[in-house]
Amino acid sequence: MLQRATAVLDRVRRGVSSRSPGDIRRLKERADAVLHPYRIAYEPDLVPPPKLMGEEGINVLEEWFRWAEEWSMLLRVYGRITRSSRVLEIGCGLGRTAFPLRYVVVDGTYDGFEIVQHKVAFLQRTFHKAYPNFRFVWADIHNTFYNPEGQIRAADYTFPYDDGAFDIVYAASVFTHLLPETAARYLAEAARVLKPDGRCLVSFFLLDNYRTNHLRPFMFARREFAFEHQYGGYGDDFAIAVPDRPEETTAYRLRLIERFAAQAGLALAQPPIPGMWSGTASTWVGAQDLVILTKLGASG
Ligand SMILES: C[S@@+](CC[C@H](N)C(=O)[O-])C[C@H]1O[C@@H](n2cnc3c(N)ncnc32)[C@H](O)[C@@H]1O
Repeated sequence: MLQRATAVLDRVRRGVSSRSPGDIRRLKERADAVLHPYRIAYEPDLVPPPKLMGEEGINVLEEWFRWAEEWSMLLRVYGRITRSSRVLEIGCGLGRTAFPLRYVVVDGTYDGFEIVQHKVAFLQRTFHKAYPNFRFVWADIHNTFYNPEGQIRAADYTFPYDDGAFDIVYAASVFTHLLPETAARYLAEAARVLKPDGRCLVSFFLLDNYRTNHLRPFMFARREFAFEHQYGGYGDDFAIAVPDRPEETTAYRLRLIERFAAQAGLALAQPPIPGMWSGTASTWVGAQDLVILTKLGASG
């Protein structure tokens, strides 16, 4: 492999290659992967410094990798991601789930938008520079917890992408911070930018799995995951945990999600995959509950 890549790159240097710039970039990456396996396998420059990571509530490097690989798996198994997929992440944070996707989405594209400006600045400076097919956009959207100074009302936001542009639209621990009006709007926008046979993967804290006073696993045995407060006139279909910071954590009953999904032209592709957070599921896959949606009438 290395010999082939080196020979082609040598022809490029001598100006006698007809390879496209994309081919040349991929060959350079492959040669680099063989010559510098440590750098490619870890790439510490793409991992945010501890202070920045702390803002996401991540205090150990292991948690960065654990969550990243969890989502890489979910996107493979339930999102049917391929190397040429066109992928959109809603609320990409510091690029934690994009991190393992750089091995997966090799010939496709990844787009992420995020409401905290300096997170996007970090990603543009590091990730996008190393992987130009991974693109990040800042949206100055208001969120009482993450961006209290934000100027755009989330429920009015139009994703900055064309109709039918993506095979996969996903949100990892983002709808767990959204109020219902925004969730409804974001599902409608997800449906708009999804291809007809695309898939939408969204994690939630499902109230269907929540039980008051049930012992939750250690990292969820905190006030922020005790969904005891109804909010916004949705009865027991929606709840928050911290009354003075409603968007710190939010939880939905599945029937409300299905209602918003149907309004958006989406439907459940299968029953939700329970996560471990609630402590009530006998079998679970990731940390949060996963909802998988396809367009209404899509074949599967
Ligand atoms: C728990 S973090 C998860 C970040 C990333 N998805 C990950 O898996 O590492 C939640 C993220 O959602 C972002 N967020 C909050 N409200 C948002 C909104 N209305 N639109 C897009 N992103 C939002 C926050 O700024 C934050 O980065």
